[in-house]
Amino acid sequence: MDVYSIEFKNNTCKISDFGAQIISCIIQGEEMLFLSKKAVFDCSKPIRGGIPIIFPVFGDSKYPNMPKHGFARTSKWILHSSNLTDDYQEITFKLESNTETKTMWKYDFILYYHVRLRIDSLETNLEIHNKSEGILPFECLFHNYFGVHDVSNIEIGGLPIHYYNQLTGRMEDKFRLTNIIDEEVDKIFDESTMCVTLDTKYMIHAYYNKNMHVNCVLWNPWVEKSKLLNDFGDTEYKKMVCIEPGVLNTHNKLTYCKPDEVCNFTQIIIKTDRKVSHI
Ligand code: BG6
Repeated sequence: MDVYSIEFKNNTCKISDFGAQIISCIIQGEEMLFLSKKAVFDCSKPIRGGIPIIFPVFGDSKYPNMPKHGFARTSKWILHSSNLTDDYQEITFKLESNTETKTMWKYDFILYYHVRLRIDSLETNLEIHNKSEGILPFECLFHNYFGVHDVSNIEIGGLPIHYYNQLTGRMEDKFRLTNIIDEEVDKIFDESTMCVTLDTKYMIHAYYNKNMHVNCVLWNPWVEKSKLLNDFGDTEYKKMVCIEPGVLNTHNKLTYCKPDEVCNFTQIIIKTDRKVSHI
């Protein structure tokens, strides 16, 4: 696997062509992302940490050969272009349907993944081009692993009251101004207008060009689940939280692209506690 680096002012972002996965993003001197010390880099499994791209399904699916969370995170993407402007440095990767993706999913598609590094933010954008004759049903999500100092001491704000609890299999609605993590969490929030905050440090905006609302998943494996993950340290759950904006097929809704249509999902993670820059 090859790792590419982009730099803007003093910020640096590293992206692997395996999964087009961001594995590090340093903004104003501080690493934003968690990467497990036990992460595997031999392309035999997804890389545990950074920002995996989840496409075309979230979780397990009805497609018999489809891996959990889809094939985007375990595919080799092609470096397409890079571009420097006054406001950002951008790198773009491309993934096209091929004989291997066709064994899992019958559709013809082209994906472009743009990563833009600005002075105080990271933007990721997935363009989904439907090249099939009929509609292309899909789900997509940015599986952000944020690095934190102590997960039981963070506050996540801006999420709606209602969520689907993947651990109980039920819809729940607990009013919480902020989500505090003090146990295993695996929640899918719906109808999020998506401006989520992580402490006063980061603001995560997400947009889907065909709908005002997006989803957001909140995940931390906590003590017992961590022990079951062989590419994750037993106590690393303390050092991360996944806040994952996406477009998911909740409530039997079907997200799709029409033939020749381009669907577009974007997130911007802004560092809000930025220091005064002298650049
Ligand atoms: C989250 C899911 O998005 O990803 C969890 O909600 C899942 O259910 C987690 O356990 C990690 O998945 P994986 O396949 O990377 O271990």
